Amino acid sequence: MFWKRKQTNDDSVYARKLMQSLLAMAWFVEARDPYTGGHLWRVARLSRLLADAAGMSAAESAQISLGGFLHDLGKVGVPDEILRKPGKLTDEEYDHIKTHPRIGLRMLAGHPLKPLAEYAVGMHHERPDGKGYPSGLSADKIPLEARIVGICDAFDAMTSHRPYRAGMPIEKALGIIRAEAGKQFDEALALRFVDLGKEGVLEEVVGHSDEGIPLQNCPMCGPTLVVRREQKKGEAVFCRNCGGAFELKLDEARLIAIPTGEAGTPADLEPEADHALIERTIEQMVDLLPLNHLLHHSKPE
Ligand SMILES: [Fe+2]
Repeated sequence: MFWKRKQTNDDSVYARKLMQSLLAMAWFVEARDPYTGGHLWRVARLSRLLADAAGMSAAESAQISLGGFLHDLGKVGVPDEILRKPGKLTDEEYDHIKTHPRIGLRMLAGHPLKPLAEYAVGMHHERPDGKGYPSGLSADKIPLEARIVGICDAFDAMTSHRPYRAGMPIEKALGIIRAEAGKQFDEALALRFVDLGKEGVLEEVVGHSDEGIPLQNCPMCGPTLVVRREQKKGEAVFCRNCGGAFELKLDEARLIAIPTGEAGTPADLEPEADHALIERTIEQMVDLLPLNHLLHHSKPE
């Protein structure tokens, strides 16, 4: 009995460490692109909302949310000048972007938790009308988690600020999702997502980098400034795009980033994964996922 309990504890510690490794891996991409600040959290959160709304079980929703967090990890293999290009991509550059689902799958290869995320990572750019990539799969061949993450990823891209354009208002992005229902997006899921918008539940996600933490404005770069939940007044934050320094001040119980006019040093601007957010994300899903089954088929002796 004692032995059994110990085994269970070991398994749960091991499962958490495996998830940590995956989520930190996904953060490489967020660390490279200052404009995607909060993208992983938002796509994970939106995917969970849509999965719940579509009637998935708590376990399925947790897995789809994990897929949302990991979906773009293959972008680590896309060159910086393409990933961060301010403006429209040429066909050749777009061909580079199209490699990221396959790169993501290769990064997951051999990881014990690969089965939880491979569809979201490998197929989130497939489209029901067969015009997606990398494989041009038709609607009935695209797994549910990829269809859900695909909608949430596109919605976040549309509503997020970029160096060359401001993020779209929620209404406009939902209009595009409605118009593309059955073409770019799964029809029933797209309409369900639009309903979520009407219910107002997307507002707590758009323009945020964590639960209850809105992105703040850099005067040069727009709403791209990520403040972490654990930060306190008096601490410095930096715009990872232009390098501007800000001090956090308390304004009616809310932390506001005030520009100091200074620029961060290279050491200040070093990217860093938000380990506290990663921990909380793991806590929200770890007990719901079928980790026992995966571990006992892959755990090294
Ligand atoms: Fe992607």
